[in-house]
Amino acid sequence: MIAADFKPDLEGWRQEARKFLEAGIEPSKILWSKESGSLSLFGSTDPDMKVLSAPGGRFQVPAEFLEWAQLISSAADADRWDLLYRILFRLKYERKDLLKFSVDPDIARAELLMKTLRRDIHKMHAFVRFKKTDVDGREHYVAWHKPEHPILKLGAPFFARRFGDRTWSIFTPDESAHWDLGEIKYGPGMPQHEFQAEDAFDGVWQTYYASIFNPARVKIKAMKAEMSPQYWSSMPETALIPELVRNAPARLQEMAKNQNRQAEPPAGASLTELRAAAQSCSACPIVHRAQNLVFGEGPESARLMIVGEQPGDREDQEGRPFVGPAGEVLDECLRAAGIDRADVYVTSAVKHFKWRESETGSKIRIHQKASGSEMHACKPWLEAEIARVKPALIVALGATAGTALLGRLPKVKEERGRLFESALAPAILLSWHPAAILRSFSEDERRERLEDLKMDLAQAQNFLSQNENPKAPDSCLPQS
Ligand code: URA
Repeated sequence: MIAADFKPDLEGWRQEARKFLEAGIEPSKILWSKESGSLSLFGSTDPDMKVLSAPGGRFQVPAEFLEWAQLISSAADADRWDLLYRILFRLKYERKDLLKFSVDPDIARAELLMKTLRRDIHKMHAFVRFKKTDVDGREHYVAWHKPEHPILKLGAPFFARRFGDRTWSIFTPDESAHWDLGEIKYGPGMPQHEFQAEDAFDGVWQTYYASIFNPARVKIKAMKAEMSPQYWSSMPETALIPELVRNAPARLQEMAKNQNRQAEPPAGASLTELRAAAQSCSACPIVHRAQNLVFGEGPESARLMIVGEQPGDREDQEGRPFVGPAGEVLDECLRAAGIDRADVYVTSAVKHFKWRESETGSKIRIHQKASGSEMHACKPWLEAEIARVKPALIVALGATAGTALLGRLPKVKEERGRLFESALAPAILLSWHPAAILRSFSEDERRERLEDLKMDLAQAQNFLSQNENPKAPDSCLPQS
């Protein structure tokens, strides 16, 4: 009997199996795992060892078998390596088309195992529930899940595709997966009771922290000021800091290579050209999950520009701003203020729909607030629209638009209805976002906010009729 000596993963098994296969060693002579047989003290010196001579020609493993091996190698069953080697051996020495014979006991066993594994992966996709945590001042989602088999590496890529726009970790008893917006890193597992008791996170936390560590944020001075080095030793993640810092330049280069593409608004471009150029911007991760770019629309001659937050579901589907429920509210308020929407340039601070899947499994895409960096990534496009339209007045709807235009987070409830000076336009007026009206806490509040928006738009109309300037003077525009 020969005891296989290999790292128990697919690659380790493949290397060991290749050696045995080339030497023609029969499956019954190999002990792949301690649990699946008893170890011989004599190892490879067993005198009964049977060696077959290979049939002529080169043996090519069928591609389908490689897929089987990938799945089956993730099974918890102790005999998985024996099974794989038996099938591999028989493919070479018995028949090339063995995989087609579902009635063969080895093939039947493999198919059953694969079915169980696929179901297990499916269950992971369906049942993992993330909870929000705060890491390093940033949102991070964590989940614990116990699959029947150690299938995390097969199951995790699905979550990177579905929830690629936020960082997350999935812990299982045997291993963990950590998504840092760029790649999935794997680390040790964690029993459920440790996952639930936060202070027991330490060991895994280190691996995890290394995986999400962003070298662009390394500011040693600030780190020391915030967290006295005397505490560093007691904090699990700080043990990694010296090494992380040492590797930071290389990782930064790597990150720069993989970074999303920030398309530049072309200088002097028309609105049509700007929209076309924005199509190829992927400066933030939202882009990849949205169906359409939702650029502003309206005449270049508009004296009034209205800026919202970001497109919603309907806008994403149609590729046009304010055409969904929020658009209906806006249209109602514009009409009430005597403003023809056809005369207004309507846009949003962020040009793609940011959403998440519904937790109830419904198909509805749930709106998510754009982050500061996503807003920042979109800002050049908003500024380019403003530079081209040169509005005499901009109405900022809601806090996100207010932030993009005023450079600070305004308090909409207190500051709406006021005119602000700005370098972007002669005046900026802040008001409620129509979605905030729709989401009002009570009917009274909804009515009140609706009246506010109507009043603010009437004030905008008034401002335009009292100000002779057809457009903003060049001096107050951003340089495009
Ligand atoms: N809300 C916005 O801010 N913009 C849209 O286009 C739609 C809803």
